[in-house]
Amino acid sequence: MESDQLGITQATHQFKCPSCNTIGEYSGSPGDHLIVTCTECNTKGRVTIPDSTEPRTMNGNAIEISHLRKLFKDFVAIDDVSFAVKKGEIFGLLGPNGAGKSTIIRILCTLTRPSKGTATVAGYDVVKHAGKVRQHIGLVSEKMIMYEQLTARENLKLFGKLYNLPNDYLNKRVDELLRFVRMEKWADQRISTFSTGMKQRINVIRALVNQPEILYLDEPTLGLDPQSTAEIRELTRRINQEHGTTIILTTHIMGEAEALCKRIGIIDHGNIVALDTPANLKKLISGTDVSTFEIEIANLEPRMMTAVQSLPFVKSLVQEDLSHLLVRTTGNDAFDSIVDSLRKNGAKVRMVKNLEPSLEDVFLHLTGREAREKISENNTSSAGPGHGPGRRRPKRIR
Ligand SMILES: Nc1ncnc2c1ncn2[C@@H]1O[C@H](COP(=O)(O)OP(=O)(O)OP(=O)(O)O)[C@@H](O)[C@H]1O
Ligand SMILES: [Mg+2]
Repeated sequence: MESDQLGITQATHQFKCPSCNTIGEYSGSPGDHLIVTCTECNTKGRVTIPDSTEPRTMNGNAIEISHLRKLFKDFVAIDDVSFAVKKGEIFGLLGPNGAGKSTIIRILCTLTRPSKGTATVAGYDVVKHAGKVRQHIGLVSEKMIMYEQLTARENLKLFGKLYNLPNDYLNKRVDELLRFVRMEKWADQRISTFSTGMKQRINVIRALVNQPEILYLDEPTLGLDPQSTAEIRELTRRINQEHGTTIILTTHIMGEAEALCKRIGIIDHGNIVALDTPANLKKLISGTDVSTFEIEIANLEPRMMTAVQSLPFVKSLVQEDLSHLLVRTTGNDAFDSIVDSLRKNGAKVRMVKNLEPSLEDVFLHLTGREAREKISENNTSSAGPGHGPGRRRPKRIR
């Protein structure tokens, strides 16, 4: 196998002429179907250049995506996405509802094929070597995949069997995973008796049964309480640090992405609109006129908030508690005008603090503030949870 100037692998294959038995050698890209002509008798024949099952060298990358596009009929879910995830990295994929995060993950898991472009996972092409890709990945999808009437151990063993893991190995692996999440005590209880947080811990280790090099976590803390959220976050960190697993994480919780991810790609309308470390992403707007003010008001009343909200440069207002507001603005005169407006409405302003831009500021700056209510008109096929018409947010059933 050799690479051409574009880095595309070339391979040769022999063809024995059915008429004169002359053996000729022909080259092409793996998977190519060629019509060849015998050099001795000019008989024509067909040759398929075999696909190599050797993984491609990835220069330290676990995943490479190049000009990926996904259409659902004429609806463009993924437009033109290219990025690479380094081995051992936790990579965050953030984006508004319907931006295309889960579609990218489904392509990387071989659950759906790209319409154009390529994706290579652990050295294998997701279309040409889907089986090989599956051996190297684990998926925690938006929907929890578990049998409620089976015990935790039975669920884990069932999924291990799907990978044809031998019994001895599987039993040890299941014990190890249950210890990893401190769930040994509940190993033989039915999933239906578990709290949502316990179920999600088992659901995460279910995706690790085959010791994947790459783990996809699609909104793993959706619907969890703060304690379970913290637990899953910590588990994500440990899977990455103790096992060196490469992780792609999607989440709508900016703090979660910031706490866990080395780099973050922000996706909107099927395109990556920014990709960098959280610190560098924040620098994207530190030079702009977007500011966030934290304001403390002793006698906070709804009319004061309405007055601030109606100011033209105010982009958002969030009431944090009985006396604190978070106000996002553009423009340089925002500070004076907000305070004036509050005082005119009888507010006793105790404190105004100009906060550093947060990841959420960057996110809103890049993706806008409008809620994404539109759905694909072709959205009639079985895309899994949350993809039916009229259901924009996936509801996890537990
Ligand atoms: N099987 C399908 N058929 C038709 N349209 C689909 C299908 N799957 C996804 N879509 C559409 O593709 C777009 C991207 O969906 P995707 O699930 O990837 O978004 P997402 O970023 O994961 O959103 P969320 O944050 O809500 O999970 C959406 O408009 C969705 O309706
Ligand atoms: Mg999704």
